[in-house]
Amino acid sequence: MLISENTKLAEVILQNYHLIPVVSRFGIELGFGDKTAGQICEKYGIDKVFFLEIINAFNDKSYLPYKKLREMPLSVTVDYLLKSHRYYNKVKLPLIEKLIEQLKWTGNADKKNKDVLKTFFARYRKEVNDHTANEEQNVYPYILELEKNYYAETPDADFTKRLNDKSISYYADIHDELNTSLSDLKNIIIKYLHPADNKEITEQILTEIFRLEKDMTDHTKLEENVIIPVAKKMEDKLKRKIN
Ligand SMILES: [Fe+2]
Ligand SMILES: [Fe+2]
Repeated sequence: MLISENTKLAEVILQNYHLIPVVSRFGIELGFGDKTAGQICEKYGIDKVFFLEIINAFNDKSYLPYKKLREMPLSVTVDYLLKSHRYYNKVKLPLIEKLIEQLKWTGNADKKNKDVLKTFFARYRKEVNDHTANEEQNVYPYILELEKNYYAETPDADFTKRLNDKSISYYADIHDELNTSLSDLKNIIIKYLHPADNKEITEQILTEIFRLEKDMTDHTKLEENVIIPVAKKMEDKLKRKIN
């Protein structure tokens, strides 16, 4: 299903509930009645093209939105990426942590199993925290500065001087997908941990982990297919302009 500005947003959510957190990241709240995606964007002051590209990309794996997104201001994409980071760190990871606390085993096994799971989860959480903190403190500010200078009539001399040492290629090279700790965490639950007495909580934990993983994969794709190539082009043009 291709979601257009005339598609009713309620229909979109009814056919794919995975889009609920994506929609809410834009600040859109449930209770949208029969309003279309376009009307909702207008109401919330959201860039329509950007919203539709993101929502279609998350809805359909084969949908490739990168071309259009590459033509949009990087600041719009960065703003969305920041909101996603906040969602991972402040909503999803604390939620999984709370669910882990709710697991129960009989007798001594309770503390032992919970400690094992907590250790693996803490490792994963730290990896996500470190990754997102680095992007927020170093990469995204650099992208915004680069874009500002790219469009400036006279680029800032200090910034352009630094361009020769600093480059987005460095980030592209070290940008990993947080896979190791995540697969360790999944393996410990699926393969090794003795089943908890309240199995329904284990199922919830796994579902949350898989959802978060999918969300973060889409997030990484945006960074690698939009942020990096556009920034690279800007750097090259700026360098040619000053040399
Ligand atoms: Fe990120
Ligand atoms: Fe990233």
